[in-house]
Amino acid sequence: MKTKEWSDKHLKKLIVEQRKFMWRDDSIDMYSRWMDLRQGMTAVDVGCGLGYLGWTYWKFFGEGGKYFGLDESAALLEEADCISREWALGGTASFQQGTVYQLPYPDDFADWTMCQTLLMHLEFPKKALDEMVRITKPGGLIMCNEPDNVSSSLMQAISSEGSIPDEWAFQNHKMMKIWARGRKKLGHGDYSIALQIPMMMHDCGLIEIDSRCNDTCNFIQPPYETPRQKYFLKKAEESLKDREEDKKRGKSDFKEFYIAGGGSLSSYYRHMKRISVFNEKRKKLHREQVENKSWHRSWGASSFFCIKAKLPASRV
Ligand SMILES: C[S@@+](CC[C@H](N)C(=O)[O-])C[C@H]1O[C@@H](n2cnc3c(N)ncnc32)[C@H](O)[C@@H]1O
Repeated sequence: MKTKEWSDKHLKKLIVEQRKFMWRDDSIDMYSRWMDLRQGMTAVDVGCGLGYLGWTYWKFFGEGGKYFGLDESAALLEEADCISREWALGGTASFQQGTVYQLPYPDDFADWTMCQTLLMHLEFPKKALDEMVRITKPGGLIMCNEPDNVSSSLMQAISSEGSIPDEWAFQNHKMMKIWARGRKKLGHGDYSIALQIPMMMHDCGLIEIDSRCNDTCNFIQPPYETPRQKYFLKKAEESLKDREEDKKRGKSDFKEFYIAGGGSLSSYYRHMKRISVFNEKRKKLHREQVENKSWHRSWGASSFFCIKAKLPASRV
């Protein structure tokens, strides 16, 4: 199976731009109390990317704390190390290349082992979780921030430029389910992994398993002035632009996984064609409405979970 290189431009964009508006600051405050974070903890972030979880939670554990970021991408780690010089003050942050299937840390090493949008990309997520548990101290904390993206595809979007007909929305969801089945079958991970994690944690012998869902609600409306609204506007404009390269990439992945999941080529082309005709019409309306500041869209909340658990105080 071909592995993704997350330092590639189109993927890196996700872990840079999307992260700015991923979790609300007050939710992070609340999660840090819920997880009982303490200053001086030793934390390991697996599949750390640019170190997002490190800088996001630093103020809750960084005073005398140690953050270890591990990732398979050397290019991302180099950048993560540079960025950390600005946020890892009062403690230490270091980065190491490796695989989550064989973590380069001894048993009982960390107070807190975490990951975000890693398990959803792995062929063997339970094996990864076993490793995370191995390196965590008895009584220590595990946190997994992962999505249920298949459910997200059921989310309604209400927009001034028109919403897709109900029948197509059902078809979209059906196609997403088939696509996700194919993606998993081909070893690219479970797109709805969040729903599996509590039971996986139980099977790893973890206790006090608990889960919360990201409480961000998504809407954009004039005058598009807050940073969040500006970001959504930019994203909407980008998605309407003809980016042939991205389009080709997205479509070929989609087709490959959809067919592997049991979808037919004819249903794929039929649906893509009508969506593309609809999008062409939307594009024109969107531009006019943004210009006269009447464009708006609401699309509910995200299905993105923060799941935590503890190791028992002693290993059996
Ligand atoms: C979606 S990114 C998430 C990055 C970061 N956790 C964040 O939320 O911004 C997934 C990351 O996992 C890394 N990764 C994927 N498979 C891995 C593996 N088997 N071992 C270590 N890292 C891996 C990728 O290189 C990438 O940086």
